[in-house]
Amino acid sequence: MDFTGQFAVVTGGARGIGKAIAEALARKGVNLVIADISLEQAKDTSAEIESLGIKTMAVKLDVSKSDEVSKIFEDISKECGRIDILVNNAGVTRDSLILRMKEEDWDTVMNINLKSVFLCSKEAIKVMAKQRYGRIINIASVVAFMGNPGQANYSASKAGIVGLTKTTAKEYASRGITANAVAPGFITTAMTDALTENVKEEMKRAIPLGRFGTPEDVANAVVFLASPEAGYITGQVIHVNGGMYM
Ligand SMILES: NC(=O)c1ccc[n+]([C@@H]2O[C@H](COP(=O)([O-])OP(=O)(O)OC[C@H]3O[C@@H](n4cnc5c(N)ncnc54)[C@H](O)[C@@H]3O)[C@@H](O)[C@H]2O)c1
Repeated sequence: MDFTGQFAVVTGGARGIGKAIAEALARKGVNLVIADISLEQAKDTSAEIESLGIKTMAVKLDVSKSDEVSKIFEDISKECGRIDILVNNAGVTRDSLILRMKEEDWDTVMNINLKSVFLCSKEAIKVMAKQRYGRIINIASVVAFMGNPGQANYSASKAGIVGLTKTTAKEYASRGITANAVAPGFITTAMTDALTENVKEEMKRAIPLGRFGTPEDVANAVVFLASPEAGYITGQVIHVNGGMYM
């Protein structure tokens, strides 16, 4: 895979799956912008991966705020000259059963997980269309396909990402831009650490490969979709879930 001279933006790249994606791309020689609401953590991650010999930049960004997204992407395209890869990874959960779910928790999850993908893709596409090259990879979830009690907002946001990915793929294929989604299953990160041991054991039993995934398992799929070699793949979802959903 030849990524020479390429720049990627990874949202929520400061920790967890986003950090693993940033590291995996950096190992392939991709220059990186880590865009995260936590500037401190983004700076730490950026400093760590700089040692791999690529250019990195940490920026503070709330992906759900359209004015911030426009400004940051303008700055990035000025600073880097191009954006080849956008990984829409930032995401949150605010779990509860529908009858108890607050409207505010619905809105927060939809804005950070789904609206953000629209906002960031829109800005990146402006740059990618001019280059006639781009790779957009959106991080969905297995629950978009299976549903999950307590995650009405989250599963709806991730199912929305799948539809948005397919539309992006159809609208911008003619400009050399591909858009695909990766749907992780149960991946060990801060997001899943919060679950009880009982829930974790129950989930493990439902995974044919018998283990939880690692952030690196997800990153490997993202790197492939981000590569020039994946140029004939668009509008697809790659499931990285150990077989828990087929
Ligand atoms: N961990 C899993 O099992 C799992 C499974 C399926 C999908 N996912 C998805 O993978 C992605 C990463 O999840 P993770 O487990 O690494 O979570 P995480 O909580 O460890 O990391 C999320 C990152 O996003 C950042 N972030 C949060 N809100 C933001 C905002 N408004 N603007 C910018 N950045 C923001 C956080 O600061 C953090 O760095 C999410 O989209 C999540 O929904 C995770």
